[in-house]
Amino acid sequence: MINIALPKGRLGEKDYHLFEKAGYEFEGVHEAGRRLVFVNKELDMRCFWVKPFDVPVYVERGVADIGAAGKDILMERDPDVYELLDLNVGKCRMCVAGLEEFSESECRNRALRVATEFPNIARDYYSGLGREIDVIVLRGSLELAPVLGLSDVIVDIVETGTTLRENNLAVIATIAELSARLIANKSAFKFKGEAIHEIIRRLQH
Ligand code: PRP
Repeated sequence: MINIALPKGRLGEKDYHLFEKAGYEFEGVHEAGRRLVFVNKELDMRCFWVKPFDVPVYVERGVADIGAAGKDILMERDPDVYELLDLNVGKCRMCVAGLEEFSESECRNRALRVATEFPNIARDYYSGLGREIDVIVLRGSLELAPVLGLSDVIVDIVETGTTLRENNLAVIATIAELSARLIANKSAFKFKGEAIHEIIRRLQH
């Protein structure tokens, strides 16, 4: 049996749609409800919804053979998995953003206060620039941090830019282009390689 971890929420629905288009359907997925596990006996496949941040955990530990995870989450968690395919959905950018009037030179003599849900991405980016930072980890509504003076900048996902604009914030730098990726457990890729290659082939068409 092939086990697939999909991220619960907006991106997960796009990912599931790709599987559906490729011929992998699971009864009950579209029904409103709280079920998390769906089985297709004919295909000998099972898929389950997990929190987006947890997809790499399920795949790395082999509970899921494959999964769909945002590149942001892969960059942040750096799991020991294979990244097999860019699914080309959920396209957005990881950015540094701040108030429109923000000026880096005003905080030159101290650590830059960076609010983010992605502390590792923020640390990697600023260590590459040789800039000392003070990371403030938040869970959502990042835009509030510079507006209320909790941080100088944020490191966050920008899709349409609407959230930034509506809070008088602007992009300062782009750290990475993001999208959903198909990932695989390393030993599943070896022992169920044929089945996984077939999934890749069908997802690409
Ligand atoms: C993400 C991100 C921004 C917003 C950007 O939040 O954190 O707030 O989307 O999208 P936009 O550029 O199209 O406005 P999400 O909606 O995933 O919720 P969160 O704040 O709980 O992370």
